Amino acid sequence: MLRSHYSNETISANIGDEVELCGWVDARRDHGGIVFFDLRDREGLIQVVADPSVGELELVKDIRLEYCLRIIGKIENRPQGTLNEELPTGKIEVHAKSVEVLNASDPLPFQLDKADNVDEQIRYQYRYLDLRRPRIQRNLRIRATVNGAIRKSFTEQGFTEVETPLLIASTPEGARDFVVPSRLSPGKFYALPQSPQLFKQLLMVGGIDKYFQIAKCLRDEDLRADRQFEFTQLDMEMSFASQADVLDSVTAVLENVAAQVAPDVERSFETMTWFDAMDRYGIDKPDLRFDTPLIECTQIFNETEFRAFQAESIKALCVQTQGDISRSKLDEMTEKSKKLGAGGLVWMRVTDEGVDSPVAKFLTDDEISELKNVTQAKTGDLLLLVASDWHTTCDVLGTLRNDLLRPPVSNPPLKFLWVTDFPLFEGLNDQGKPVPAHHPFTMPHPDDREKVEQLSEQIKLGQELDEVFVRSIRSQSYDAVLNGWELGSGSVRIHRADIQCHIFDILGISQAEQNSRFGFLLDAFRFGAPPHAGYAFGIDRLVAILAGEDNIREVSAYPKTQTGQDPLSKAPSSIDEAQLAELGLNIRPEVLAQDQQD
Ligand code: AMO
Repeated sequence: MLRSHYSNETISANIGDEVELCGWVDARRDHGGIVFFDLRDREGLIQVVADPSVGELELVKDIRLEYCLRIIGKIENRPQGTLNEELPTGKIEVHAKSVEVLNASDPLPFQLDKADNVDEQIRYQYRYLDLRRPRIQRNLRIRATVNGAIRKSFTEQGFTEVETPLLIASTPEGARDFVVPSRLSPGKFYALPQSPQLFKQLLMVGGIDKYFQIAKCLRDEDLRADRQFEFTQLDMEMSFASQADVLDSVTAVLENVAAQVAPDVERSFETMTWFDAMDRYGIDKPDLRFDTPLIECTQIFNETEFRAFQAESIKALCVQTQGDISRSKLDEMTEKSKKLGAGGLVWMRVTDEGVDSPVAKFLTDDEISELKNVTQAKTGDLLLLVASDWHTTCDVLGTLRNDLLRPPVSNPPLKFLWVTDFPLFEGLNDQGKPVPAHHPFTMPHPDDREKVEQLSEQIKLGQELDEVFVRSIRSQSYDAVLNGWELGSGSVRIHRADIQCHIFDILGISQAEQNSRFGFLLDAFRFGAPPHAGYAFGIDRLVAILAGEDNIREVSAYPKTQTGQDPLSKAPSSIDEAQLAELGLNIRPEVLAQDQQD
């Protein structure tokens, strides 16, 4: 190696020891002819002092920021009054004996210590410079530690790491596929995996018994703070296992990871059913770092004259001390509530006398006093009420609750939550057909099998389906939530061909499509497929929260920009005519015309 120590390792060397260091010039100062610079490597910084009047050291006069250097020098104490308490190496410095320029650097396109304010297009075009920043270095190392801890923990639990293919036929996970044209079968396409779902289930049929993988997944969906096109899942599956076995196994892994990466951050694990999460917090991924539950108020208005409150479900949110919220903010929230399907939003500023609200005149004194009593609202608080069907009431208030109260996702503590018993279907699509809430391979809840039969009958008879009934059928699926982000999902799987076909029928997947898309899975289930269950969590999301980041792109080495571009390698890019011809492809003329215009 060209170095004897990393910068921070020099603190364990003795004064007077000779060290060899390699790194980049982070800062540079001239003082009375002597040149001082901070040398940065992956471990930190150390101050180097060089006297250009000493023979070979003359070259230090020309050294600029981000020059890549090798230094040989002696460790010395810094003179009194020049100590830097903020640096681990702040008591010492290296007196250079030799300075070798391993490579010069052009002036940088942006200052590294100001990179957070630089346009992402520029930052990612020069991502290799951005990566030199301590923040990103730290994040990538945390990510490596998380991956290492995951591997160790699953291996210790007897899981086998197996890699599944990237060029596959489409696996439905609810997003668009990225597709890859085939040269050997022109006109045909592979899909890149949205997840290894079907392959891991087939591993169970293949007797692997306990599988895990740190798997790259690809989904063509809109990018946001917790979503990239390419992301990494911890994917696992277990045979002859129940939901409780999966939860235990994954909880142990998450516990190990958190203990290793963020030992000082308070953490907790809880479990709640989907119904309770929705009813109490209005969302299937409640952030338990703050409580403020939705308060049931339907009974209070049982006999109300106020038309807007003659509804199936009325709930309230009591936002403490926010009674002075601006009118424009209230109007904004009302608009949002309407967009989410509610007839409107009722707001009340709680006063000593009662409430200040546009609807107060429609309510009786008893109703207002009972409302204050049930919500325990105090003077200065804000009450928000929604009256609608249960689902909409929960959804609207859950959204407002998060908008008003939720802290940034990475703020401590770490609140892990298992949400169980999700509905099997999230509702009905435009054609009135049930849509799976997780994916179509999820086993219905044992207590709701009769409902599944009922639904199947209704479909066979061509009856119009009732969305409330469809949503009431539960599944054996579960999510893990961390600080209000969905961390992962899983389920007990269907392992019998007859049940799987039954669910496909309910979803309106024709016999022909069942055979063409999922024939291989149905075939496999006919050869003694074991009962199995599994789960996958997003490693990007876990690492972001553990690293104190609110956007997963900060924990990925090469993220895409908001518009899905990679400004560094210029992907996505055109391919030439010959390559297109080889793949049997033509670009549509209108797309070509647009491309030339751009
Ligand atoms: P699901 O689709 O819920 O389940 O995905 C599991 C987890 O993967 C992460 N994730 C993402 N992370 C970043 N960017 C994205 N675009 C993105 N999409 C998903 C999330 C999510 O919770 N096969 C099932 C799992 C199973 O049933 O075993 C699946 O993929 O953290």
